[in-house]
Amino acid sequence: MEKERRGEQLGPPEVPKKRVQLKAIRNSYADMGVEAFYKSQGSVYTNPHFPYISTLLRNNESRIDYSNILDFCCGSGEVSQVLLELGYEYSEGSDPFTQKAYVAAMNKACLGYSFQDVIKGKMDGRRYSSIICSFAMHLCPEKKLYPLIQQLFNCTDQLVLLTPHKRPKLDVVDGVVLEFEDFTLTERGKKVRLRSYRRS
Ligand SMILES: C[S@@+](CC[C@H](N)C(=O)[O-])C[C@H]1O[C@@H](n2cnc3c(N)ncnc32)[C@H](O)[C@@H]1O
Repeated sequence: MEKERRGEQLGPPEVPKKRVQLKAIRNSYADMGVEAFYKSQGSVYTNPHFPYISTLLRNNESRIDYSNILDFCCGSGEVSQVLLELGYEYSEGSDPFTQKAYVAAMNKACLGYSFQDVIKGKMDGRRYSSIICSFAMHLCPEKKLYPLIQQLFNCTDQLVLLTPHKRPKLDVVDGVVLEFEDFTLTERGKKVRLRSYRRS
């Protein structure tokens, strides 16, 4: 009404930028496949859900051991950036497709392990206070989830997933228990979840 009274043109209803970006990502996954999408876009990746990642990591500081983390499937280091702001310097990032974006954001090297590399045991011998995987574990095919989780638990006692989806739920995986769960709501009232798992 206000705009009409001032004689301005009313365009089509505004679709929030975040929604457009998320829809575009989902469409690209469908058109190109996840791997091809991140191979082509990985160097410029950013996550429009960053504020929710930040809220969840901050709210759970007392329950997650951030002293020496692996930011697994790190994108442009969304998790590492929040932890650095909280004063935790010892993080490593790993992602096969977004290393350039991580290096640019964090100004340090980035490992390049894929789900398949981890399953093959390429992370053997590495040890972390916690492994945090934000907005990525749902990209692992279901049948590879069990061997992936087993290998990650060889490197840590605490595995933390952040996800806008209900899946994957790792407590259905043999030998894994949900330690605690938290969530925050997006502007549209959708849950973004943080789940911490340990070995049973
Ligand atoms: C939605 S992004 C999440 C990035 C970041 N953790 C965040 O919270 O914004 C998904 C990430 O999974 C990575 N990814 C996709 N396929 C992968 C695979 N097969 N192995 C390991 N990482 C993969 C992508 O490169 C991308 O950085």
